[in-house]
This record gives sequence, structure tokens and C-alpha cells, in this order.
Amino acid sequence: VHSHLEESIRPYIDLIDTLRTVGIHKDLSLPTIVVIGDQSSGKSSVLEALSGVALPRGSGIVTRCPLELRLKKKTGVNWKAVLTYNKKTDESVNFAGPIKPSKLASVKAAQSTHNEKKIEFTDPSLVEKHVATAQNELAGKGVGICDELITLEIMSPDVCDLTLIDLPGIARVPVKGQPEDIGKQIKRLIMTFIGKHETINLVVVPCNTDIATTEALKMAQEVDPEGIRTVAILTKPDLIDKGTEKNILAIVHNSVIPLRKGYIMVKCRGQQQINDEISLEEAAQIERDFFQNHDYFRCLLEEDKATVKSLAIKLTQDLVDHIKDKLNNIQLNQQEKAEERISEQFKMENRIYTQDPIFLKILSEIRNETFSEKELPVFDKLCTYSH
Ligand code: GDP
Ligand code: NA
Ligand code: MG
Repeated sequence: VHSHLEESIRPYIDLIDTLRTVGIHKDLSLPTIVVIGDQSSGKSSVLEALSGVALPRGSGIVTRCPLELRLKKKTGVNWKAVLTYNKKTDESVNFAGPIKPSKLASVKAAQSTHNEKKIEFTDPSLVEKHVATAQNELAGKGVGICDELITLEIMSPDVCDLTLIDLPGIARVPVKGQPEDIGKQIKRLIMTFIGKHETINLVVVPCNTDIATTEALKMAQEVDPEGIRTVAILTKPDLIDKGTEKNILAIVHNSVIPLRKGYIMVKCRGQQQINDEISLEEAAQIERDFFQNHDYFRCLLEEDKATVKSLAIKLTQDLVDHIKDKLNNIQLNQQEKAEERISEQFKMENRIYTQDPIFLKILSEIRNETFSEKELPVFDKLCTYSH
């Protein structure tokens, strides 16, 4: 199923790719998507459905360190992943003990790269194992949390070009082995991520809970009162309390707790489906069928307010808007540098940039120009690299 929206943003996704290739994303500081919510609300499930990467998930505290998932769409390559993290030092061990962010930061800086662990692998089914091992090394085996970042970079033709961060869920009552203030620790960790202006915050809320009192939603509103970078994701619509459908529909239609970017409902794999080894592709089909056959939620499909796929398209659109915005604000000298780097890259790839639609798109964005495909602008400086 090819949506119109997807078609219209495809050139921009390619654009992002090209910008990454030439290193311009560093100047643009592309936004990161962060998921926050209560424990077991479905954060990791949403991320794995978005990324196509099977992540550790389940009941209780599973995500115990921030996990940065950098998805890079690369055509003509096989699936490949690189996991990196800074191996614990005595100071950074965190057996459910208090986190000392300032101390961790200084230790990390002082010991720079020699504690860095890097694991490359090509089998997607190994993600869970490697992430779990890294978590155990960083946060100790058990129920502790840690604020050291684990980075997982994935290159594949089948991913969207997005960077996503999975965070430990908000816990209310400490379980055995967790300190009394675990809730506070996790909230502080979450705040350090969502407080940054370059993040888009996905607030994950199960349909079968009281959405109005969701802590994560309050936190997101605290750091983003205007709601410019907050998107709410309603999960587990299949576990809804019968009779509450209309109330939930009102929430998705933005008439209860209005959010500028609104709500989107998704159905991910439940525990049984995971046990039955239902693939992510099958799960996407099941999700679609679920909405199509739902008496109350069917309408959400047409409104682009349901399914993980819709969510992915929306997020990509946000990314594109952000990039367009940034490109328009690039200073003149930066523009020249950007143009130079792009043309150098094209030269290296033996591509004729003056005829390349992506190249032209980039230039028009950088120069804040609009022109029709036929009226090719004359790029004086770049024509010195003639073929
Ligand atoms: P997290 O702690 O927020 O990361 O939550 P997880 O993603 O680990 O999910 C917690 C549990 O809820 C897992 O057993 C998932 O399989 C299940 N789950 C997540 N989303 C859905 C959903 O849409 N429907 C159902 N039935 N179960 C879900
Ligand atoms: Na969980
Ligand atoms: Mg999780």
C-alpha cells in the first residue's frame, strides 16, 4: 500500500540520505525521536515496529539503559548493525544505585575512547542478545538502571531514515532490588533526553489506562508547553475496556487533551504473538486488519491516525519539515560550504550533479529558491567541476 504522503516525501528522504553522505546533517543537527511512557506501556514495541528491529521487550523493566537506534537507509547493502557503548568503569557501575550524571560525564570524557566497546553483526536476530549483554555490563544484572547510552546503528534498505531513542519506563513502586527513589531517577534520566530542543517526544500511553493522568504526558508538556514536538501514541487498542471506545476516540480526535501534533493509535504484538513468533511484517498486516474490522476505530485509518506505518510517515514528515526549516536558515558562508561538499561528493561518485534531481532539490532548499524542473538554475561556481 503506497500512500500519497509517502510518495510526496520520498524525495526528501533521499535528500536526507544525501545530506548524511556529505556530512551536512552535523550542521543541521537532525532531531532525534525519543519514546517515553510508563513501564510496559509499549515503548519498545512501538520502536521495534517502526524500525523493523526486534528489541528486548516484555513485562517489568526490560529497557534499563537509554538505547539509541540510528537507522540508515542504504540501498544495495545487506542488513548490518554496529553496537557501541562505553564499557563500565568502577565509577559507572550502577547496581540500582543512584546515578551521578555529572560524575559519569566526567569519567566518560577522561577515559574517552579506550573503554568503548564496538560489536558488528549481520544477523538481525542477535540484536536482543547484544543489547541485553550491553545492559548487563552497564547497569548490572537485575533491575537497576543506568544513564550510559547504548548506540545501535543499523544499515539496511528496509528501514526509514530515523534516529530513535528507547528509554527505561517510568516506574511507580520500586521492585525488590531497586532503590526507593527509582521513580525519581528514571524521571530525571527521561528529562535529560526530552528537555533538549532537538528531540521529537513520543509519549506512549496504553488505551486501557487513564490517559489524562499519564505522568509521561505531563513531563512532555512541561518541557514543551506549546506542544511543537510532542506526539502521543495510543497503544494496546485490542486490550481496551469494552464500553470506553467512544471516550478513546474523542481523545484521538484531540477533543479531550488537545495536542498540537495530535494522537496516533497503533496495535503492536502482544506477548502471545511474540511467543508464537509472529513476524513484524505479519504483525503489520494483523494491525491493519484489526483497524479495518473495528466498529469504532476503522475511521482512524482514513484520517491517518492509526497504524505504525502512518506513524512512520508522520515522523519522516516532521524530520523533513525540520530540515527544510534549517536549510532555509543556513547562513550564506555555510551555504557555500554545503554546496561545495555536495558537489565534491557527486564528483567522487561520478554523478553529474547539474542534472541530478536530488542535487537540485538540495540546492534549491539551501538557497531557499523555488524553480520548476525545466528552468534549471545556473550554478556558476559549481560549473567549474565540469565533466
Ligand atoms: P515498554 O516497557 O514500554 O517498552 O513495553 P514493551 O514494548 O516491552 O511492551 C510490554 C508488553 O505489552 C509486551 O508484552 C508487549 O508484547 C505488549 N504490547 C505492546 N503493545 C501491545 C499492543 O498493542 N497490544 C497488545 N495486546 N500487547 C501489546
Ligand atoms: Na517492559
Ligand atoms: Mg522497553
